[in-house]
Amino acid sequence: MACCLRGMPDMNVILFGATGMVGQGVLRECLLDSEVESVLSIGRNAIEQQHEKLQQIVLKTLTDLSPVESRLSGYDACFFCLGVSSAGMSEEDYRHVTYDLTLSVAATLVRLNPAMTFVYVSGAGTDSSEHGRMMWARIKGKTENALLAMPFKAAYMFRPGYIQPMHGVRTKTQWYGTMYAIISPLYPLLKRLSRVT
Ligand SMILES: NC(=O)c1ccc[n+]([C@@H]2O[C@H](COP(=O)([O-])OP(=O)(O)OC[C@H]3O[C@@H](n4cnc5c(N)ncnc54)[C@H](OP(=O)(O)O)[C@@H]3O)[C@@H](O)[C@H]2O)c1
Repeated sequence: MACCLRGMPDMNVILFGATGMVGQGVLRECLLDSEVESVLSIGRNAIEQQHEKLQQIVLKTLTDLSPVESRLSGYDACFFCLGVSSAGMSEEDYRHVTYDLTLSVAATLVRLNPAMTFVYVSGAGTDSSEHGRMMWARIKGKTENALLAMPFKAAYMFRPGYIQPMHGVRTKTQWYGTMYAIISPLYPLLKRLSRVT
């Protein structure tokens, strides 16, 4: 993901979702990357990791960043890896986390950091028309479209399909965990097959 930001030395980065599977991986890469000067993790739960480049803000609700606004200026990029699976969720609850929370965070960040690049982790099958049959895909599509319309310096929408966790990273989503336990032993074979087909 950091490839879209290459060439920006001494980057200051905000990360949402650092306690999750994707966020743990992004945090690891940011801390290892010599072009990233600092990482501010923002989440409702603390991360245990400590590192000289890492700071964190823990807030009960992320839809209102006003108590910490004074700490959110001077950032070049935001990796937004916060998200939930729609499994078992009502449309209203899924929209609240996926659309309302994301857009509220993005509106604050772009106001404070007009030169920011925003990177959103979406998902394969996202519906940009916003009118398809799959509830989650419509809402992710609406979220992507709204982010792309905001006056960030740049915004990138990543639509991963299967993600293989590495370096001890664990998902918080129970059914993903079950899926990884089944697929992980087969992953090297599946990867090789996907190259030849
Ligand atoms: N994993 C995959 O294979 C995969 C594939 C395609 C797309 N994606 C997308 O990538 C994104 C991240 O997935 P993931 O696998 O990293 O999920 P995950 O392991 O379940 O982590 C979810 C992250 O979002 C945070 N979060 C969820 N609901 C929140 C809320 N209401 N308020 C504050 N924080 C909240 C969690 O924080 P807490 O620690 O506080 O719960 C955690 O940091 C999702 O949008 C997902 O759809 C994932």
